[in-house]
Amino acid sequence: MEVIKSNSELKVWRASARGDTALVPTMGSFHNGHLSLIQRARQRADTVIVSLFVNPTQFGHGEDLETYPRDLERDAALAEERGANCLFAPPVHEMYGRLHATYVYWPELGSRLCGETRPNHFQGVATIVLKLFNLVRPDLAVFGRKDGQQVLLIQRLVADLNLDIRIVVSPTVREPDGLAMSSRNINLTKSERSQALGLYAALRACKERILRGEWASESLVGTMHEALGQFPGLRPEYVEIVDRDSLCSVESVDTNVMVAAAGGVGSTRLIDNLWTYEMEGAIGVEL
Ligand code: PAJ
Repeated sequence: MEVIKSNSELKVWRASARGDTALVPTMGSFHNGHLSLIQRARQRADTVIVSLFVNPTQFGHGEDLETYPRDLERDAALAEERGANCLFAPPVHEMYGRLHATYVYWPELGSRLCGETRPNHFQGVATIVLKLFNLVRPDLAVFGRKDGQQVLLIQRLVADLNLDIRIVVSPTVREPDGLAMSSRNINLTKSERSQALGLYAALRACKERILRGEWASESLVGTMHEALGQFPGLRPEYVEIVDRDSLCSVESVDTNVMVAAAGGVGSTRLIDNLWTYEMEGAIGVEL
């Protein structure tokens, strides 16, 4: 596996890459969630490139840009183990020149859900992902369902800007007790770790009720708040049931919704979600 740090080297490497190329964009500090995306890319493409860049423009003031965990050597070894052919890990000045002034954003969709408390976050995500798409020119790109709003917005970006890239959505990888894996989980103390499970507990309760035929959003959101009440150390930020195209709240669940929840435990912000889908004429749930 090659480790590349500059755009010019990337260009040379890309010209020699064979067959279908898959890009897996990341900010590093790999856990099994990231590694599952690399494995999925490996199954779907001839060449796999993983990008590792802690993107400053998607962090707000007072967020954890400086303390975001970084360990290039460990990440490179893990990416190679899972079959990546290239790790692109540029320094900040390589991605954002001194005169950088262009941003991409979703005026409506980027201010819903997580965008409400993280105003410029998705603008930073859109801008870096589009830059990576242009530099790598992948045939497909793999994103995790864990960051549900992010992958829905990227699908929107690809459709709206006519990018010829297939977006592959990969399932959420969880700890044995259900907590969604996240680079930020290492910041949780032991007692915070047990409270962090609240989002999963709420979504599991919601899933059970959907599968038993309760589709009214108000009732389902009520169930989730009840479940969250068992976790007093978790400060709920939002619990919403939205259509996956418009990100608008829906009155009842169909086969195209995302049930999304976010909350804070100590100084750590956590998100999780479930998606519904059509399963032999009924509503299925992916958690
Ligand atoms: P990062 O948080 O490092 O996540 C990189 C990819 O891993 C994303 O597609 C994310 O959804 C996926 N991922 C994270 N946790 C996961 C889990 N438990 N199961 C499955 N997939 C998981 O998301 C970003 O970086 C950045 O915003 C980025 C897209 C790289 C742009 O800077």
